[in-house]
Amino acid sequence: MEKLLSVNQIKTEFKTEKGSVTSVDDVSFDLKEGETICLVGESGCGKSVTSLSIMQLLEKNGKVTEGTIEFNGRNLLDLSENEMRKIRGNTISMIFQEPMTSLNPVLTIGDQLSESIRLHMGYSKKQAKDYSIEMLKKVGIPRAEEIIDDYPHRLSGGMRQRVMIAMALSCKPKLLIADEPTTALDVTIQAQILKLMKQLRKESKTSIILITHDLGVVAEMADKVAVMYAGQVVEETDVFTLFDNPKHPYTLGLMKSIPHITNPDDMRLDSIPGSVPSLHNMPKGCRFYDRCPFAMDRCLEEQPKLKPIKDRQSHSIRCFLYDQKNHRAGGTTIKKEVRT
Ligand SMILES: Nc1ncnc2c1ncn2[C@@H]1O[C@H](COP(=O)(O)OP(=O)(O)OP(=O)(O)O)[C@@H](O)[C@H]1O
Ligand SMILES: [Mg+2]
Repeated sequence: MEKLLSVNQIKTEFKTEKGSVTSVDDVSFDLKEGETICLVGESGCGKSVTSLSIMQLLEKNGKVTEGTIEFNGRNLLDLSENEMRKIRGNTISMIFQEPMTSLNPVLTIGDQLSESIRLHMGYSKKQAKDYSIEMLKKVGIPRAEEIIDDYPHRLSGGMRQRVMIAMALSCKPKLLIADEPTTALDVTIQAQILKLMKQLRKESKTSIILITHDLGVVAEMADKVAVMYAGQVVEETDVFTLFDNPKHPYTLGLMKSIPHITNPDDMRLDSIPGSVPSLHNMPKGCRFYDRCPFAMDRCLEEQPKLKPIKDRQSHSIRCFLYDQKNHRAGGTTIKKEVRT
């Protein structure tokens, strides 16, 4: 498989009233053609900012200040807004976490769908209309023939989300970025959307960056997973290793928070004690220090880098526990149980 996307050590900063904050700091991952990576991590860890950095759709106060984002061999950060506009909604499309922001309130659903389909697929007006209806049906919208004449505000949030998904999938992008695409939808529709995404991946070799809080979705969709914490990737590996042999103390905590079938109220990932450091006051050392049951003195002083663990190039961790320096012959330094 060919490499499609390579995010290299990007840093994304926002100017705020309280000064500049770094929301994404040293984030890297690669994506091959047809491959799906899931980004997971608790609220505020930088998942959306990472995807908006790739799309170059950050709010005006934000900027990628370091790193490169190579897509098909070109650094997206070097492209003009005009060139980026041609790529967006065509070779790269995105399903946004906030659906209303990407629908135009003054155009009917049919007009906005057809517009993007005609632009990117070269269809006639009639073909574009038929294809729009077909796509709306595929995302589970009932009475699609009527809905295409409605304006976005007439639809419920869940329906708007599905329109946006239809729009994002309709031009068969090379890269689909889906930010919590199904969180607001009921389980039947969610299953339908995931199936559509799989179909797209199979037929068009689309690569997918999928942001989700749902480890069930991760298990179903991901080839690999990047776990983020406080603006950084702390562990990256294939999906099987993530579930069978997670290493980073934060990932271990996340995995412990997999909900019990008998306790559906506890579906959140963020049930690890303690809180994330403030963006305005990032510690010098490891960002997970305060919450880590295995923290060592070194972790307070030095910031670990994301590194492949010994003999496993495809499993990277940002943690001194797996640093060669700390390894003793025949075992690891982990002794304590993870606190709960
Ligand atoms: N325009 C902005 N100005 C200042 N800070 C921002 C801006 N946009 C995002 N941030 C900050 O960047 C950090 C990362 O936000 P981001 O939206 O990427 O989190 P997330 O991982 O997507 O969370 P969630 O799971 O809640 O969607 C947050 O602390 C957020 O407050
Ligand atoms: Mg988000």
